[in-house]
Formats: sequence, C-alpha cells, structure tokens
Amino acid sequence: PRSIFFSRHGESQFNVEGLIGGDSLLSERGMRYAKALPALITDNIGDAPLTVWTSTLQRTIQTAQDLPYPKLTWKSLDELDAGVCDGMTYEEIEQAYPDDFANRDEDKFNYRYRGGESYRDVVVRLEPVIMELERQENILIIGHQAILRCLYAYFHDLPQADLPYIKIPLHTVIKLTPKAYGCDEERYTLPI
Ligand code: F6P
Repeated sequence: PRSIFFSRHGESQFNVEGLIGGDSLLSERGMRYAKALPALITDNIGDAPLTVWTSTLQRTIQTAQDLPYPKLTWKSLDELDAGVCDGMTYEEIEQAYPDDFANRDEDKFNYRYRGGESYRDVVVRLEPVIMELERQENILIIGHQAILRCLYAYFHDLPQADLPYIKIPLHTVIKLTPKAYGCDEERYTLPI
C-alpha cells in the first residue's frame, strides 16, 4: 500500500523568535532535523520510490535538501498568508488589531487576515494538490503548520471547526496509509 508522509519544516529562525509567516531559514536545531530526516525516511520506506513535495519557501526547501529523492516545489503549499500580520508575534497582533484577534479566536476557520488568507481560503487553494496526491504513489510533503492541518483533516475527514487546532508538532513525521475507509496513521518524532 502506498503512504503519504507529512512533516513540517525544521525549526526556523522565525519559530525561535515567535514570529508568524515570513521566509526565514532554519535554526541550528532545524538544520539538525534536516540532517536526521533522510535516515528516518529511508529506514521506513526501504528502496520504494518516493517523491518529495515542498513549498516555495526556503525553510521547506532547506529541510528537504539532503533527501535522496526527486523533488517538486508547489506554490500552493506555501504557508497561510497572514497579510498585514506577517512577521509579527501573536502579542503584537493582539495589540495592533484587538478586534481581529478576538474574531480569529471566535471562528478560526473562517477568519481571514487583512490582506491575507483564512483556513477556508487555504482549503480551496489546496484542491489541486489533493487531486494530485490522490493519483500519486509514495509522497513526502515538507510543509507548514496550517497547510498540514488542512491536508491532515482531509485524509482523516475531520470537521472544519476542529481543523485549525490539529496538533502538527515540529520534528515529527506523520505517515498516513489510506485504506478503503479512512487512513492508518503512525508518527515518528526525532528527539533533537
Ligand atoms: O508559527 C508558525 C506558523 O506556521 C505561522 O507561519 C502561521 O501563521 C501559523 O503557524 C499558523 O498557525 P495558527 O493558525 O495556529 O496561527
């Protein structure tokens, strides 16, 4: 049976500083994840064919750097666009846009950042990615928190209201194996 692997990029410099969005590089710790990832994947899949999909953002491309598989970058896999809030901390957003911050908490799935996107928008832009995923064999997606929440919710058929709260930790590979109904799941965390 074919598998779909999801991983967030390794810890980025923005992750360390608590800033959302951006296009930062990996931290030292994130780099260690990128170095450890190839052995985890290869041990899991043996010599079966695999294709790696990343976003166009540096932190996913850097995380995929040492993976010995063909790679494809998708603009549609870029992180949820936080618009005017890109590059801010959650505290700064709460200060600058208190009503928006409260509205997001009220309905996180539908809340659209000023000049940016909502989770609902991201679900729509991921449709072509999902269509292609359904046709492919083994795929590893090196992605972003919001993006992987949407893809994970699709494969597990989770409700929209829960989707923005799904836990997709850093430095963890989630392996989904689709069955006739639903998916089997395994998680592997690299202690780095
Ligand atoms: O903090 C990392 C990050 O990927 C941000 O770039 C993004 O805005 C955020 O997570 C999405 O998570 P949430 O929707 O919970 O704010």
